[in-house]
Amino acid sequence: MLKKLSPYTRGYRKWIALGVVCSAMDAIFQLLIPLVMADIVDVGIANADTNFIVRKGVLMVGMALVALAFGLGSAVFSSRAGMGFGANLREAEYARVQSFSFSNIENFSTASLVTRLTSDVNSMQMTLMMGMRLLVRAPVMLIAALALAIGLSRPLSRVFLVAIPLLMVFISILMVKVGPLFRILQEKTDSLNLVVQENLTGIRVVKSFVRESHEKDKFAERNNGLRSTSEKAFGAVVVNMPVMMLIVYGTIIAVMWFGGKMVYAGTMAVGNLTAFFTYIMEILISLMMVSMIFMMMSRSIACAKRICEVLDEVPAITDDRAQSGARVEAGSIDFDHVSFKYNTNGAEWVLENINLHIPAGFTVGILGGTGSGKSTLVSLIPRLYEAQSGTVSVGGRPVADYTMEHLRDAVSVVLQNNTLFSGTIRENLRWGNPKATEEQLQSACRAACVDEFLSRMPDGLDTDLGQGGVNVSGGQKQRLCIARAILKQPKILILDDSTSAVDTATDAKIRQALRKDLTGTTKLVIAQRVSSIADADLILVMDQGHVAAQGTHKSLMKTCEIYRDVYRSQQEGVNIGG
Ligand SMILES: Nc1ncnc2c1ncn2[C@@H]1O[C@H](COP(=O)(O)OP(=O)(O)OP(=O)(O)O)[C@@H](O)[C@H]1O
Ligand SMILES: [Mg+2]
Repeated sequence: MLKKLSPYTRGYRKWIALGVVCSAMDAIFQLLIPLVMADIVDVGIANADTNFIVRKGVLMVGMALVALAFGLGSAVFSSRAGMGFGANLREAEYARVQSFSFSNIENFSTASLVTRLTSDVNSMQMTLMMGMRLLVRAPVMLIAALALAIGLSRPLSRVFLVAIPLLMVFISILMVKVGPLFRILQEKTDSLNLVVQENLTGIRVVKSFVRESHEKDKFAERNNGLRSTSEKAFGAVVVNMPVMMLIVYGTIIAVMWFGGKMVYAGTMAVGNLTAFFTYIMEILISLMMVSMIFMMMSRSIACAKRICEVLDEVPAITDDRAQSGARVEAGSIDFDHVSFKYNTNGAEWVLENINLHIPAGFTVGILGGTGSGKSTLVSLIPRLYEAQSGTVSVGGRPVADYTMEHLRDAVSVVLQNNTLFSGTIRENLRWGNPKATEEQLQSACRAACVDEFLSRMPDGLDTDLGQGGVNVSGGQKQRLCIARAILKQPKILILDDSTSAVDTATDAKIRQALRKDLTGTTKLVIAQRVSSIADADLILVMDQGHVAAQGTHKSLMKTCEIYRDVYRSQQEGVNIGG
C-alpha cells in the first residue's frame, strides 16, 4: 500500500527530506542542551566560576535558538509535504472517479466516494505530517537519550529495564484494541455522509412528505453511532495518557531514590543527576510519541485501503478497443442479439436478446410499461452501460470502436432524470456546444420551446439557475435539457420521457421543430403518451426486457394487442376529460 501511495508525494519530496532532516537536527540539539546544563551545575556552580556559567549559558541559549529554528523548519516543511500529498491524492482520486462508468459509481455510492475524497485523505495527510516529525524524532530521541543516560550512569539506567518493557506491553495492548475501531469509524462516517447527502439533495421531497422529524431521527441515529465509536476509539487513546504518566513518574521517583543515594555516597555528580532526569523525560515522551504514531497509523491504514480501492477500481468502460480515426458518420443503430443486466451476478436479464435495425434519420418511438427496459435499451447506445452479450452498433460499427468522446458527441441523450447545473442558462446550454453562436443558441431554444418562457426570465439567457436548476419548473427544465441536447447537432438524439412534464400542445410543437431542424438526425423518443409517438417512422413496444412488437402506428394497431390497449386506455382518458 505504501508503494501504491508513495508516487503521490511527487513534487513534495524535497519538503519531506527537508522536514525529516530538520526534525532530526531539532532532536539532536535538544539532547545536547542537558549536557551543557550538567556542565554548568557540576563545573560552573561547584567552582563558583561565574565566567564559565555565563559562557555556557550563552551557548545554551544559542543551542536552544538553533533547535527552535529546526523545529520551526520541520513544522513548516512537514505541513507543506502533508498538504501537497493530500492534494495529489485527491486529484488522482477525482480523476479516477471521472473515468468511472455509471456501474463503477453504483459500486461505491456517491456518499462513500465523497468521504474517500475528503475525510480519508485528511487523515492520510495528517499522518504524513505528524509522521515526518515524530517518526524521525521519536526514535532518534529514544536511542540517543538512552545512550546518553547510560553514559551518565550505568547503574541508574537499570530503571529503564523495568519501565520500557512495561510501556511496550501497554502500548501493544492498546494498539490491538484500538486499531479495528478506526476502521469502523470511517465506515460510520460513510453512512452519516450518505444520510446528509441524500437528504440535502432531496430536501424538497423530505419537506413535501413532512419527513423532517423522521429524517432527523435517522440522522441522529447515525450521528450517535459515529459519536459512540469515536468515543470508544479516542477514549482508549486518552486512557493512554494517564497510564503513561504513571509509569513516567514512577520511574522518576525511582531515579530520585537511587540517584539521591548515589549523590550522597559520592558516586554521582548532582549535575549528572539533573541531566539524567531530562533524559528520562525524553525517553518516555518519545515512547509515548511512538505509541501515538502507531495509533494514527492504524487509522490511516484503514483510510489508505479505502483510497486504494478507488484508485484500483478499473473503469468498466474504456476506450481500449477504440479504432483510431473512427467517427460516427451516420445515425443508423443496430442491436444484434443484445442481452444486458445491471448486476453481472444477477439471474434475470434486464434486456434479453434484442435485435433491431434503425436506419439513419428515422424517428423511433419507444413505448412500454414502467420497468420494461426502455431507459436501459437507449443507455446502451451512447455506451453508458455495456451489454454483456451481443453487439450494439452505431453507424455500422460497434460502439466500442469509437472513443467515448466521439461516440457521445454524436449521440445526444436527454436522460430521464436529467440535471442542470448551477450557473446561467447560457452556461448550461453551452454544455451541448461550448462554441455555440448566439444564433445557434436562439434556434435551439426555439426548437425546444424554451423561448416561450425565456422572455419571462429576469435576465433571459443570463438568468442564474440555482443549484441543480431549482428556479425553473419541471417542464421548463425538461425543455432546457432538450435545447442543450439539440445544440450538439448530434447524429442520434435520444429523448427519454423528456416531455412528460410538458403540455400536449408544446410537446407537439417540439416534435414538429425537431422534425424540421434535425432532418438527418435519428431520433429515439421514449414516451408514455401514444400521441407523442404516433407519427414516428417506427414504434418499438417494450415488454419485460423484450421488444414485443415493432411497426408503425397503423400496423401496430392491427397486430399488437399491448399497443392497442395502451392506445384505447389513453383515448378513454381523453374522452372522459373532454
Ligand atoms: N442502475 C440500475 N441498477 C440496477 N437495476 C436497475 C438500474 N436501473 C434500472 N434497473 C432495473 O432495470 C429494469 C429496467 O429499468 P428501466 O429504467 O430500463 O425501465 P424503463 O422502461 O425505463 O421504466 P420507466 O418507464 O419507469 O422509466 C427495472 O427492473 C429496474 O429495476
Ligand atoms: Mg425509464
